[in-house]
Amino acid sequence: KPKKRFRILRNAWRLTWGLSFLGAGWLAYSIYETRFPQEQIEPDPAKKTLVILGSGWGSVALLKKLDTENYNVVVISPRNFFLFTPLLPSCPTGTVEHRSIMEPLRHIIRHKKASVKFYEAEATKIDNERRVIVINDLSDVKGDVHQTEVPFDYLVVGVGAENATFGIPGVREHACFLKEINDAHKIRKTVMDCIETAMFKNQTQEEKERLLHMVVVGGGPTGVEFAAELQDFFEDDLKKWIPDIADDFHVTLVEALPNVLPMFSKTLIEYTEQTFKDEKISVRTKTMVKNVTDKHIEAEVTYPDGKKELQKIPYGCLVWATGNAVRPVVRDLMSQLPQQKNSRRGLAVNEYLVVDGTDGVWALGDCSATKYAPTAQVASQQGAFLARLFNSMARTQALESELIHLEELSAKTKVQEDRESLEREIQKKGKAIRRVKTLSPFEYSHQGSLAYIGMERAVADITWFNGNLASGGSLTYLFWRSAYLSMCFSTRNRVLVFMDWVKVKVFGRDVSRE
Ligand code: FAD
Ligand code: NAI
Repeated sequence: KPKKRFRILRNAWRLTWGLSFLGAGWLAYSIYETRFPQEQIEPDPAKKTLVILGSGWGSVALLKKLDTENYNVVVISPRNFFLFTPLLPSCPTGTVEHRSIMEPLRHIIRHKKASVKFYEAEATKIDNERRVIVINDLSDVKGDVHQTEVPFDYLVVGVGAENATFGIPGVREHACFLKEINDAHKIRKTVMDCIETAMFKNQTQEEKERLLHMVVVGGGPTGVEFAAELQDFFEDDLKKWIPDIADDFHVTLVEALPNVLPMFSKTLIEYTEQTFKDEKISVRTKTMVKNVTDKHIEAEVTYPDGKKELQKIPYGCLVWATGNAVRPVVRDLMSQLPQQKNSRRGLAVNEYLVVDGTDGVWALGDCSATKYAPTAQVASQQGAFLARLFNSMARTQALESELIHLEELSAKTKVQEDRESLEREIQKKGKAIRRVKTLSPFEYSHQGSLAYIGMERAVADITWFNGNLASGGSLTYLFWRSAYLSMCFSTRNRVLVFMDWVKVKVFGRDVSRE
């Protein structure tokens, strides 16, 4: 028996070593591959020009799987990186560093087989008639040319959405948003400014309370996750290093509907609201913000008896997370197409993501109006679908020209045997074309929803064998972390995010202003 036990232990030890060795080998190979891309081929100028707008979830998923040697690919986006938005709420508090969730677009395109052109610019107009895009260089450094036109044969619009404000006065002037990396910087600066200003000599108690009141408007996942991260920051770090704010620092989440996280199941909504109560985050549901000034929000509160009251809520930092609105460039394209006149949420598309009323223009992600929620999951699946579509279009075209060539040869051939052999080849090609051409319409496969709710807890509504699995708590939090780590764009991002989490566990978060 001791011998058997020894053998089991020895084998387990060998297996551990073997797996570690494999893991280290895989990591080393991924790093090598990332650092040393292969030579790229120049695309054939005779091929069609495919322009991709945006460098977000949809466009990058398309780019990742696209065989770029089949087209002249041009990417246009005002930001030269991909942003892993699911971890953006962790950035303002320093749980995750900004650069850990950014992947340079230059890395992505440099790894493609054929080179891809990138212009860091905003598309200001898509001219569907003339088939050109007007682009504008937004950077502070301007060259002699900072506005020009890019022609296209095929166009994919993946410009995402902008922040919805519903025209509420004062939001754009006074609130911070949470969509881009600059927004995270701004929130961080504002929170730390509020804290240090509250500590200024002779500050009145009333002003101190206002400055330390952090208000988050919008109880969707963005608002919930950010409020949770902010409260964690306060509990774990701020309170310890700046004890004078302990009694007055307060996070409030304001939501117009009767509950937060409407897309989650009822039990998880209740669990989230209870967790927020334990964390001392105030949740004010049925409270709709109507006006924002530099120091207050004015909100209409609906009481259980149906009575409404307008309340003034003072704030120091206001984070606005009330969902998406259509970008001007998309609205302009919609106005050019009569088929889009009834669409409100974005570009109406067919089941192959072709923009209604156009030929050779596709839209994906948050700028398109489909029956799916505007999420990264949907956008990236649409991107992968379009890559398959473009790859199969190119393959069909190549097969069709081979078929024409074979038919010409067969017509010229006098020898019966050669003609028969060519006929067989023609039949094969015809079959191959039919196979490649049969691409089913886009279908979304929902993997589930996850959200961080603070105190190392998360909620998850996961699709499980055609059913639904709802779970919340610390184990779900571990699942949340591992899922997001595996979803990070590259090995580099994965390693950086993991190191950030370890760093915060060991040293805590930094409390200096940026
Ligand atoms: P985006 O990813 O927004 O990309 C749009 C791109 O277009 C950007 O590169 C932008 O710079 C560029 N662009 C903008 N204007 C122009 C222009 N005029 N011309 C050219 N380019 C332009 N979804 C999930 O499924 N799970 C999550 O956990 C999750 N967490 C999120 C957390 C936060 C804080 C936020 C804000 C969103 C989160 N989402 C999540 C939603 C998800 O990020 C979006 O649904 C997704 O980014 C949509 O992808 P997209 O490609 O359509 O747009
Ligand atoms: P959202 O649209 O999901 O939620 C916005 C909330 O703001 C709504 O509940 C709305 O009732 C509320 N609201 C609107 N106007 C208001 C007002 N004037 N006063 C008070 N409340 C008001 O927006 P969010 O959270 O930005 O998410 C956008 C998209 O990104 C969604 O599709 C979401 O699913 C996705 N996302 C997913 C995440 C995840 O899966 N973990 C994380 C973040 C976003």
